[in-house]
Amino acid sequence: MAHKWRGGARALSVEGMIELRDLTKRYGEKTAVDGLSFTVRPGIVTGFLGPNGAGKSTTMRMVLGLDTPTHGSVRIDGEPYNHMREPLHSIGALLEAKGVHPGRTAYNHLLCMAQSNGIPERRVGEVLEMVGLQDVARKRPKGFSLGMGQRLGIAGALLGDPRILMFDEPVNGLDPEGIHWIRTLMQHLAREGRTVFVSSHLMSEMAQTAQHLVVIGQGRLLADTTMSQFIAENSRTRVRIRTPEPERMQDVLVAEGLRPVAGHEGSLEVEGGDAARIGELAASHGLVLHELSPQRASLEEAFMRLTAQSVEYHAFAPSDGPDSGGPAGPGGPGEPGGQAPQPGGPAAPPGRPSQPAWGQSWKKGRER
Ligand SMILES: Nc1ncnc2c1ncn2[C@@H]1O[C@H](COP(=O)(O)OP(=O)(O)OP(=O)(O)O)[C@@H](O)[C@H]1O
Ligand SMILES: [Mg+2]
Repeated sequence: MAHKWRGGARALSVEGMIELRDLTKRYGEKTAVDGLSFTVRPGIVTGFLGPNGAGKSTTMRMVLGLDTPTHGSVRIDGEPYNHMREPLHSIGALLEAKGVHPGRTAYNHLLCMAQSNGIPERRVGEVLEMVGLQDVARKRPKGFSLGMGQRLGIAGALLGDPRILMFDEPVNGLDPEGIHWIRTLMQHLAREGRTVFVSSHLMSEMAQTAQHLVVIGQGRLLADTTMSQFIAENSRTRVRIRTPEPERMQDVLVAEGLRPVAGHEGSLEVEGGDAARIGELAASHGLVLHELSPQRASLEEAFMRLTAQSVEYHAFAPSDGPDSGGPAGPGGPGEPGGQAPQPGGPAAPPGRPSQPAWGQSWKKGRER
């Protein structure tokens, strides 16, 4: 494997890496990206998260040299994108599914990309088959659905068989089969030793796909860590206890300085509790346990907790009102620990403004 070396005496392999150093982008008064420094590494899927307007797409555009940084730099394999002679061999990207010539068929669009990068024509057919568009290869993409457009963009990213792949919201518009396909594809690419850098707002999807996370808010770096560490550091652990003697169990826990609260279907929940210690306590008091389970927090809960202060665009939601019992449980709907909050249950993520109920704000609007 050919290594590139930099930095004089201190040799450093940078193959397959995207390196951002103090990357900054201002649009007039607006600082879209604010001093970002991080490195995306090969062999894993790195998720790129941030609320709407956090600067993810702007960052990705600067990686590809489509936007000029106000300050700082990006290097791919140790080089700026604009210095690469045939960049599709090094990095393939799906940004917003635009930029397709309206008069060209899907096949010809990819063929033009291939020809300008010294890629043989047979590869066009290969990638169209990989993304499932072989039957519409001779059609013009302007008639494609959102999901078909995404698939064409992904075909373009794969064209040069690049070592690095970057996808901006690739599952946007894809059907469940397509979402499953892209997850499997990204994991496969990473297992082959490639670098996969992907943004998405679908937390449950990201939790299944990425091993590492870079999280930004208002253009600034909030976290650069492994998935498991991110969830552990940004959420509270809880232990669920089910016993035929909940009152006696409650007394034992309170005597130990713990604060059990009513949980789901008659269970007790202890925030910050240690399951082993609780099990020992129950045994020493002769208490029968039907369940003793640490509740794993979801990526969604951890993300909302970390980014609560950085969310720029808050929407009114029917469940945000004072009568609704607050935001959804920690796991979010359909995820572990995602049941309706109980009295005294886990608090809402910090920093979320309290808003009038949906109906109230609508009524106010009508009264004015
Ligand atoms: N060409 C531009 N001119 C002016 N402002 C811009 C431009 N591009 C982006 N911005 C601003 O920069 C900020 C970051 O935008 P960006 O699209 O990078 O966010 P994002 O994290 O990709 O958001 P989303 O999750 O909604 O896709 C936003 O406030 C946006 O309005
Ligand atoms: Mg974006």
